[in-house]
Amino acid sequence: MSIFYNEKERAFKLRAKDTDYMLKVINGEYLGHVYYGRKVPDEDLSYLLRFDESPFTPEQNDRDRAVYLDTTPFEYPCFGIGDYREPAMMIMDSDGMSTCDLRYVSHKIYDGKPALDGMPATFATENSPAQTLEITMKDSHAEIEAVLVYSVFENLDVIARSVRFTNVGSKPVKLTRALSACVEFDTDKMDMITLNGSWARERWVERAPLHHGKQSVDSCKGESSHQSNPFVALCAHNADEDMGEVFGFNFVYSGNFFAQAEVTQHKKTRFVMGINPLDFEWLLDAGETFTAPEVVMVHSDEGIGKMSRTFHDLYRENLIRGEYKDKRRPILINNWEATYFNFNTEKLIDIAKEASKLGIEMLVMDDGWFGHRDSDNSSLGDWFVYEKKINGGLKHLVEEVNKLGMKFGIWFEPEMISPDSELYKAHPDWAIQIKGRPLTLCREQYVLDYSQKEVRDYVYSMMRDILDNANIEYIKWDMNRQLTEVGSNFLPKERQRELWHRYVLGVYDLMNRLTTDYPHILLENCSGGGARFDPAMLYYSPQIWCSDDTDAIERLKIQHGTSMCYPCSAMGAHVSDCPNHTVGRNTPFKTRGHVAMVGTFGYELDVTRIPQQDRDMIPAQIEEFKKYNPLVRTGDHYRIGNMFEDNTWDAWMFVAKDKSEALFEFVQVMGRPNMRSRRIMLKGLDPDAYYYEESEPDKLLSGAALMNAGINVAKIWGVDGISGDFSSKILHFVRR
Ligand code: DGJ
Repeated sequence: MSIFYNEKERAFKLRAKDTDYMLKVINGEYLGHVYYGRKVPDEDLSYLLRFDESPFTPEQNDRDRAVYLDTTPFEYPCFGIGDYREPAMMIMDSDGMSTCDLRYVSHKIYDGKPALDGMPATFATENSPAQTLEITMKDSHAEIEAVLVYSVFENLDVIARSVRFTNVGSKPVKLTRALSACVEFDTDKMDMITLNGSWARERWVERAPLHHGKQSVDSCKGESSHQSNPFVALCAHNADEDMGEVFGFNFVYSGNFFAQAEVTQHKKTRFVMGINPLDFEWLLDAGETFTAPEVVMVHSDEGIGKMSRTFHDLYRENLIRGEYKDKRRPILINNWEATYFNFNTEKLIDIAKEASKLGIEMLVMDDGWFGHRDSDNSSLGDWFVYEKKINGGLKHLVEEVNKLGMKFGIWFEPEMISPDSELYKAHPDWAIQIKGRPLTLCREQYVLDYSQKEVRDYVYSMMRDILDNANIEYIKWDMNRQLTEVGSNFLPKERQRELWHRYVLGVYDLMNRLTTDYPHILLENCSGGGARFDPAMLYYSPQIWCSDDTDAIERLKIQHGTSMCYPCSAMGAHVSDCPNHTVGRNTPFKTRGHVAMVGTFGYELDVTRIPQQDRDMIPAQIEEFKKYNPLVRTGDHYRIGNMFEDNTWDAWMFVAKDKSEALFEFVQVMGRPNMRSRRIMLKGLDPDAYYYEESEPDKLLSGAALMNAGINVAKIWGVDGISGDFSSKILHFVRR
């Protein structure tokens, strides 16, 4: 039982593992937010919702001390009745008015967690159950109902939230803002952590103290984006990896998002998250319902690291699905950085032949196998084989690869259409566009109008022809441009601004069909690298390509940032060739392997042409990956180094849940003179147990010593005989 209702006080208490979240129906049937934080034994903290009179603040109850509309912490604030902070919801009613005033109507509590209509969301499992509270609120004037849905995961410090809106009147109402969550904090003494960047530099960690006014991250690009991730953590100023209170928020959505912390006049903080209201509208005709996507809220009182591990546990158990959920992924070789568009059947078979000898398990044929695609300027939408390149046909190629004992995977970009394509000739109106306006190109392509089932059906039928005619066991689903001139030739005028969201729903629909019809195919999402690394994509694909930047040193920051809320088991990571194609850096082959081992692991190079000494390392590298991958997939991840603060080194660990073994990885980045000797404290071990490092089985050290006194980095160099920038080392600790 995780949800309690105190009838007398009309107070709710949501108890996640070590977290309490409390709310209460207050005077005038408003829904007030009472508390979010470490668990407390008390059932009701209603006394917290009594306020001193707040001068010049609108109130509805004749100066009643419970509700000053610009001061009271609300669960789900609306616009127009005197709360001037950021609203969670706005409407345009049938008279064109935007005021909305939600009041409590009823609630229900039940076991389990509902699925969201047409959208990905976390789910309850036997190992990780949930209980749900639904609170129905209503604006009686506009006759719109909002059901606030809270699901509490009792074994994790997680509460998931969403909102369902229904027009319960007889006239149309428009939602002009429909955020998924609002959380009020009684303090402004917090830092905001966000994940920002650019192409090839995704999810760099930024941390800054909150200050008066509004601080936000968002996307208005039609996808979650390279530039900002739908993740925010608010934490105490003194919180670090291992201590302090942290609140993490992650939006289970792949389109335009908005997340904002607002410090108010009273030095309190309102945090909101949901679909970006910019250019959003949704028309609700009488009886129609709109569901806002899910926000996952994680609370940690043991620092940022514990927040991350909670997200990892939740996503690995309660979000990722399918055959590969708990399985090691096949070690793949992808031909993109090996050949770009310049390949044919012979070249791919040459790569596969060499790769199979080295222990690589799957060949992935990337962009360029369809239509007449020799560069990125044509053929998207023409999902039939380019016979000039794939001479002998796809079936033949796949059979040849299978004969080598390897699986075969293929690349698609199903949401796109090139102006130079058969599809565009036949259906120019299928591109997202505004009639009469010039259409902006990006990577010489347009975006298909995925709000239309006919469009999706057609693309899917072409994909099926490919998938049904060859033994394809992996798909890389790419998405290489943002949306512009967002208009549909098929939606009526009053629904044009729904296209942003309808597009995303269309993508989910097709991914759902694909994963249902082909449950054995491993799906990897990708978007020009990592522009769609979000929890919604994890619902369909157990792994996502992390970044087009495959340089091992750049990846340290990218993978560190990504691990803030996404499990390492989901990070697409490959060993690529040097000099690195993005930054021109040379790094040891061994380090490239160690860094890729943090993720799904694979190769992205021309294995027939790399230096012999690198090629010779591959079989042992693969064995090493296989040995440690169970720890990476199922263990607890600890960040030890932090390249955002100190770019001289990085280190991290994976510790088995039962603490019986741990993998420690270290990368020397930029050496400094006279800084060689350094103690590094390990994390996550059992302090009372004794461990040995595999290469020194006779030398026992207690978990307490390893964590409190640490290990010596100079010793690492001594043992290994290596030194110098970009070298790496792994240590495997085993409990005696
Ligand atoms: C962007 C991806 O991130 C790359 O890995 C590659 O698949 C290209 N697209 C192909 O166009």
